[in-house]
Amino acid sequence: MLPSVVALLALLSCTHGENPAIQFILTNKGLQYGKHAGAGWIQEKLDKVTLPDISGEINIYIGSIDYTLTGITITKCDFPEPSVEFFQNNTGFKASMSGLSVALNGGWMTHFGIIDDGGQFDMAIFSMDVTSVVELGRDPDGHLSVSSVSCDAQVGDVDIQFHGGASWIFQPFVDHFKGHIRSEIQIKICPAVREFIDRLEYHLQFMNVSFDVDQVLTLDLALTGLPVIDASSLNLGLKGEFYSIKTHMSPPFEAQPFTMPEQPSYMLSMGLSDFTLNSASYGYYSAGLLQVLINDSMIPPRFPLRLNTSYMGQVIPQLPKMFPGLLMNLKIYCKEAPIFSFQPGAVKLDVQSVVKAIAMEPNGTQIPLFTLNVDLKFSGKMWITGETLKGSMTMDNVTLTLAASEVGTFKTDALEVMVKGGMKMFVLIKLNEKLGKGIILPRMKYAQLVNSVLKMEQGFIAISSDAEFLLTDRSFN
Ligand SMILES: *[C@@H]1O[C@H](CO)[C@@H](O)[C@H](O)[C@H]1NC(C)=O
Ligand SMILES: *[C@@H]1O[C@H](CO)[C@@H](O)[C@H](O)[C@H]1NC(C)=O
Ligand SMILES: *[C@@H]1O[C@H](CO)[C@@H](O)[C@H](O)[C@H]1NC(C)=O
Ligand SMILES: *[C@@H]1O[C@H](CO)[C@@H](O)[C@H](O)[C@H]1NC(C)=O
Ligand SMILES: *[C@@H]1O[C@H](CO)[C@@H](O)[C@H](O)[C@H]1NC(C)=O
Ligand SMILES: *[C@@H]1O[C@H](CO)[C@@H](O)[C@H](O)[C@H]1NC(C)=O
Repeated sequence: MLPSVVALLALLSCTHGENPAIQFILTNKGLQYGKHAGAGWIQEKLDKVTLPDISGEINIYIGSIDYTLTGITITKCDFPEPSVEFFQNNTGFKASMSGLSVALNGGWMTHFGIIDDGGQFDMAIFSMDVTSVVELGRDPDGHLSVSSVSCDAQVGDVDIQFHGGASWIFQPFVDHFKGHIRSEIQIKICPAVREFIDRLEYHLQFMNVSFDVDQVLTLDLALTGLPVIDASSLNLGLKGEFYSIKTHMSPPFEAQPFTMPEQPSYMLSMGLSDFTLNSASYGYYSAGLLQVLINDSMIPPRFPLRLNTSYMGQVIPQLPKMFPGLLMNLKIYCKEAPIFSFQPGAVKLDVQSVVKAIAMEPNGTQIPLFTLNVDLKFSGKMWITGETLKGSMTMDNVTLTLAASEVGTFKTDALEVMVKGGMKMFVLIKLNEKLGKGIILPRMKYAQLVNSVLKMEQGFIAISSDAEFLLTDRSFN
């Protein structure tokens, strides 16, 4: 009994994949909007479509006639609104359309023995019904995949008028003949649907699931598991991990699971775990970028403290006496990757840094002075107004401790007050100016987000939004 329980537990822990740090949810409202826009687009496209030739053979008493209908063009299409729904049975969608009617014209050719004939025709196809079930999946590389599970097509009736050639002879036989044409059309519909889905699948396979966001970081957006579908939504879990292009190292922490609140009144929702921000932070940190050397010429002229040993008497009384009149450098680096944590209504940022102070002799010799541990705690807010993501940041706490000193001990209180003042005056004001202007939400070529709202929750932020297609662009292809 026990071994089987252990085996089961081991199996469960193995099959338990990694948690997605980004969740993308398409609601039924989004699906219906997408379908409506898609149907309009298809209707527009159908007006220009030339269909494949239809050819066959009809037996008459004295032999068989080969026929070809060619250059078949849609002249009018009565395109009823299709229905699309999430389909749990196959983790996908079920789309159906009934009562599609199409008027077509083209040329006809017949071949009977040595007699060739030809002319024009008009055709009407009535009451076409098509139902297609598509399954969504995930391939081993984390791409979304689509495949056709079933397709069913019925053509209600066909009416054909032939013109030209000897059409007056065979037009009376059309009633016999049109059943044949009807089934020729019927058997062509599902292969065309499957080909469309295969083409979509082909594009999905070649889509990148990771993107370089700058010189330093790549964002991995591979699917972490199979798409999840219920009656009212589709949920895609994405890895959402940044890593350094150079080191390719994963951070030493994992994404925690989170549950997105249901937002059926929006078309889509996206949840972003603080893991994503922290992986970016770790990426910059492990690429060695979270460090800076500060010298006196970088200190704003209005700041009361200069990086000159003669000015340090207030905070380190012995320093000007030991090394008078020397310029100083501050080497600042993060001890660990800064950590973001999302909490209801706020994002907290914890930065643990080390500051090494060095005095510079005129001949370039460097004299190490002291090393400080500086822990900074910030909290921030984020919100969306219109199409802009904005934010603000405040500093909650600065803790400054002396880690080592080559110039003897000194009290850090005065320095702490100065660091606080400096951060507020010179860093936060600039930062908040930028955050206040915000960044425009990504706008794709054919769609944009509207009515977006952002909510900060425990461990993640949730953005819910409607979308607006810009399908008037005729170049959409
Ligand atoms: C979906 O699955 C359920 C339960 O397995 C079954 O009863 C139902 O007929 C299926 N629906 C379709 C359309 O296949
Ligand atoms: C996919 O990524 C590769 C390598 O980063 C790049 O060369 C290619 O252009 C990308 N393809 C697309 C469609 O973005
Ligand atoms: C301070 O650093 C900047 C940039 O590294 C450099 O251009 C400048 O000359 C330095 N100033 C001093 C006084 O060393
Ligand atoms: C440092 O400050 C003192 C006092 O203002 C000044 O005399 C000295 O020239 C400064 N040192 C440098 C290298 O600028
Ligand atoms: C630089 O100057 C200091 C004091 O002026 C002196 O002690 C040191 O030996 C000099 N270093 C070099 C490499 O000249
Ligand atoms: C700042 O941090 C110190 C040390 O962690 C703590 O004792 C103090 O209460 C904090 N102050 C505030 C305002 O949070």
